[in-house]
Amino acid sequence: MSSETVIDARGISKSFQRGIAVLDNVTLSLARGEMVALIGASGSGKSTLIRTIAGLTAIDGSRNGRKESAGSIVVMGEAIQQGGRLSGSRSLRTRIGVIFQQFNLVPRLSLLTNVCFGLLGQLSVIRGTFGHFTTADKRKAMQALARVGIAEHALKRASELSGGQQQRAAIARTLVQGAELLIADEPIASLDPASARRVMDLIAELNRRDGLTVLISLHQVEYAMKYCPRTIALKAGKVAYDGPSSSLTPAFLNQIYGSECEELFLPSLKEQPASAPENGAYGLPRLPAYIQPPATSVAAALAKRPFPEIERLSA
Ligand SMILES: Nc1ncnc2c1ncn2[C@@H]1O[C@H](COP(=O)(O)OP(=O)(O)OP(=O)(O)O)[C@@H](O)[C@H]1O
Ligand SMILES: [Mg+2]
Repeated sequence: MSSETVIDARGISKSFQRGIAVLDNVTLSLARGEMVALIGASGSGKSTLIRTIAGLTAIDGSRNGRKESAGSIVVMGEAIQQGGRLSGSRSLRTRIGVIFQQFNLVPRLSLLTNVCFGLLGQLSVIRGTFGHFTTADKRKAMQALARVGIAEHALKRASELSGGQQQRAAIARTLVQGAELLIADEPIASLDPASARRVMDLIAELNRRDGLTVLISLHQVEYAMKYCPRTIALKAGKVAYDGPSSSLTPAFLNQIYGSECEELFLPSLKEQPASAPENGAYGLPRLPAYIQPPATSVAAALAKRPFPEIERLSA
């Protein structure tokens, strides 16, 4: 694994109201290829931290009135924001995929069109404004939908699909965008346990197989321990722990969070039924993540298959 730093956040603070720090001098870094969980009780600052790293929320431009002590966030070598001002760099933003608890798809549009929106950062303003997607664009979107296992639903409206399917479409949108870093804010919080596991399996597979760097906020520590080798724990806007997820025993969490730690555990992950095997694209059975064939063979298989949905659309 390369040791290239993908996220380098130093000394960042955020106050929405004067004197109340939601993030208080947070420093963290992620290397390329890592999959890191961000945990913390409700209100600890997870979403705010995610949004600042994604360049959606500006951090404080100065600390204690001293501009020189303001923090910085550099993503893949480029400042995503500086001195309280967000970067407008289109090229940097296309390299950062962001997904949210509520999927952020346009409900009345097809999955295919929703996924094509991931290409907007790469299109000319005119093509982007009119949402004019070419057959090549749609083919890319179909490949991404196939990659996340829902190509057969491409022409259905987003609103007709389950939460798990919508979240996978949101992930497909970041794939067509060409994201190298995936930042996810509680992507499984609205999903039933079986769908949550499928979405986590998919994200873990994209991390392992495609080398996507992942920072993912999770409300429950069991998912962090199962899927992420490293966890950053926030408490009241400060980093309370940053290290191996395997150290997050109930006793240790109790030490960090006291009674707050109760909300960080699922009732019981083990008692939930094993997810039914789900068919992937074109009815191919989905294999466990570790024995998936390499991405190139998926692409080769897709290249051989016609996309009847696209052919119909462009007829
Ligand atoms: N836009 C905003 N304006 C004012 N206060 C805000 C804003 N966004 C967040 N906050 C406050 O910042 C604090 C941290 O909120 P944040 O949403 O980051 O927490 P969280 O860890 O994501 O919580 P949850 O687990 O409930 O999603 C909360 O006290 C919240 O009320
Ligand atoms: Mg949140």
